[in-house]
Amino acid sequence: MATVERATVERKAAALPVPFAVERPDRIPKQRYLDPAFYALECERLWRRVWQMACRLEEIPNRGDFAEYEILDQSVVVVRTDDGRVVAFQNACRHRGVKVALGHGTCERGFTCPFHGWRYACDGTNTAVTRRKTFAEHNLDPADLDLVPVRCETWGGCAWINFDADAPPLRDSLEPAASILDAWKVESLRVDKWYACRLPVNWKLAIEAFVESYHVVQAHPQLVIPTRYGRRDNASFDRQAFVEADLEYLRAMSDGMDGMVHADDVRVAEGLRDVELPADPELAVATWNRTLNDAVVDWHRARDHDVPDLNALTEQGINLEFFQCFPHWFVLPMYSSASSYRFRPLGPEETLMEVWSLARFPAGHEPEPPTPPEVWEHDDPRWPAIPAQDFSNLPRQQRGLHAWGFEYMRLSAGLEGHISNCQRVVDGYLAGLPHERLLPALRAVNVYPFDQPVIDLGL
Ligand code: FES
Ligand SMILES: [Fe+2]
Repeated sequence: MATVERATVERKAAALPVPFAVERPDRIPKQRYLDPAFYALECERLWRRVWQMACRLEEIPNRGDFAEYEILDQSVVVVRTDDGRVVAFQNACRHRGVKVALGHGTCERGFTCPFHGWRYACDGTNTAVTRRKTFAEHNLDPADLDLVPVRCETWGGCAWINFDADAPPLRDSLEPAASILDAWKVESLRVDKWYACRLPVNWKLAIEAFVESYHVVQAHPQLVIPTRYGRRDNASFDRQAFVEADLEYLRAMSDGMDGMVHADDVRVAEGLRDVELPADPELAVATWNRTLNDAVVDWHRARDHDVPDLNALTEQGINLEFFQCFPHWFVLPMYSSASSYRFRPLGPEETLMEVWSLARFPAGHEPEPPTPPEVWEHDDPRWPAIPAQDFSNLPRQQRGLHAWGFEYMRLSAGLEGHISNCQRVVDGYLAGLPHERLLPALRAVNVYPFDQPVIDLGL
């Protein structure tokens, strides 16, 4: 047998069986979005092994501040310790399992369990066992009394946790998005607004509604503006009409969603209405983009905001508006600001989606720590137009998947390849592949997701 074939056979033999696996990359079996056993496998083999964004660092700005992160049936406490480190531990008292912390707060003198009063320092070290002498020695081994630590690392303005001691370091697991987002200076963005939505759909279905632009024409007609989506030809190109249309696009993106395009940046753009543009359409568009980028950067730097040089990002090919950090965290930078999403499964057919609007503030004048949002239903009238359009389709899709005649998603291999690529990374985890095999695949999906082709992940 040829070496490559033998290696493939050995790999498959070593892997655990995956039900409803993606056999043809452009066909995604529907059971992956609703089957309780498939969901249970994801809980066991995916969510236990991946880095997860647990909280934004501005939720825990001061020593002793903590934030509870819940995923599946697990609760993790992320704490800023007395010496300024950010650590995490499982939220279960070592006596009889009561959660030692709830929500957000500050542990002044550590955590005291509300049941029998065992105490822990902010870093999870056990400091007191009440009526200690009544316990047998084998139940008082100091190694067993501290809160169980969880791996925790920080990057991009966030604390991340991983339940797997063998997972590669955080930063390695988020490339190449991490380096690109560093160039965007994501770590100096701060929470301006924070929203949460309960979606009656599978977590992958929720994510997949946002990672292709194929749906924009049908689902968001107000964003279909010729300057962004249409052809430009010399004969009909009208410079003034182009500028007005671009301003309309920026206003539509900003409306009720300040991070997507910040209202300040829209105002900067509106101030450029009379800018001189060349007659050639391509040159005119390039000049407009360059002028707007510089104007935004100048406006923010004059206010002492740490903002990247947007035209330098364009030259590097990374002035793109969407990045994934597999599996559940996204950043959508545009001009000075960004939106950010996090998706958490609540059950096989239920997802919590959070949306942050992130903005620039002068150092020392950052906003107050953000408070967790009230969770709105997907059809809450308070959602702005664009997310409301996405949210309205999702429950219809989840119900549609149940149709007996519907077998699998038919993906456009050219436009929706990212969906397939991520689904096959999920299969890599479900097959129990070692991290060194998964890491190159992660790097293939931690990218700009729109219009990606189906690629060979080497799994
Ligand atoms: S369960 Fe925590 S002290 Fe008893
Ligand atoms: Fe959308």
